[in-house]
Amino acid sequence: MIIKSVELETVCGITSKLPENDKSEFAFAGKSNVGKSSLINGLLNRKNLARTSQKPGKTQTINFYNINDELYFVDLPGYGYAQVSESVKAKWGKMVENYLKKSECLKEVLLLIDIRHDPSKNDKDMYDWIVYNGYNPIIIATKADKIKRSQLQKQIKAIKEGLKVKPGTKIIPFSAVTKQGRDEIWDIIEGANDN
Ligand code: GTP
Ligand code: MG
Repeated sequence: MIIKSVELETVCGITSKLPENDKSEFAFAGKSNVGKSSLINGLLNRKNLARTSQKPGKTQTINFYNINDELYFVDLPGYGYAQVSESVKAKWGKMVENYLKKSECLKEVLLLIDIRHDPSKNDKDMYDWIVYNGYNPIIIATKADKIKRSQLQKQIKAIKEGLKVKPGTKIIPFSAVTKQGRDEIWDIIEGANDN
């Protein structure tokens, strides 16, 4: 896909109403610091459109990026961010749940898992929750540049088993540094967008 325009069109906080978009949406979910914003920037060839940070919890809102007036990328706030109160965490969770439940244009959910670690309980809960809501998430194994090539298959297997993914679930290694996986992810997005 040739990126002609990208605009952060809607930012939803805890109390905002979700937009009623009429174009396909692709949502990016995953724990804080897993690389959601970096993946979005990598897919769009922008350096810092979606703000990235070494400090977890940078994205605290649901951000809708309008791409070419053709589709939306939806950057969801990371779950499992330790440095906010439980009540704020619960509200974020509700906000994300509500979005997954209500959006009528949501085509695919991309669930990001750090390739270096076995999935956490939060990751597994999120996976189950996405499936419960009728989506079969594509798993993006992030930060692939941080492991040796020889470790890749082993880590993919660990993610598969840790999440107990449904047969046929796609697991795509991605690196924001080398852009490994970028084309494959775009193929999936474009394929789903045409449907
Ligand atoms: P929140 O907004 O806090 O939920 O985090 P996020 O999931 O958007 O993560 P973000 O993209 O901000 O990345 C977190 C940190 O990981 C940053 O320091 C990034 O530079 C780093 N990072 C993200 N992706 C990669 C990657 O593929 N390779 C390497 N080496 N570092 C990465
Ligand atoms: Mg972010």
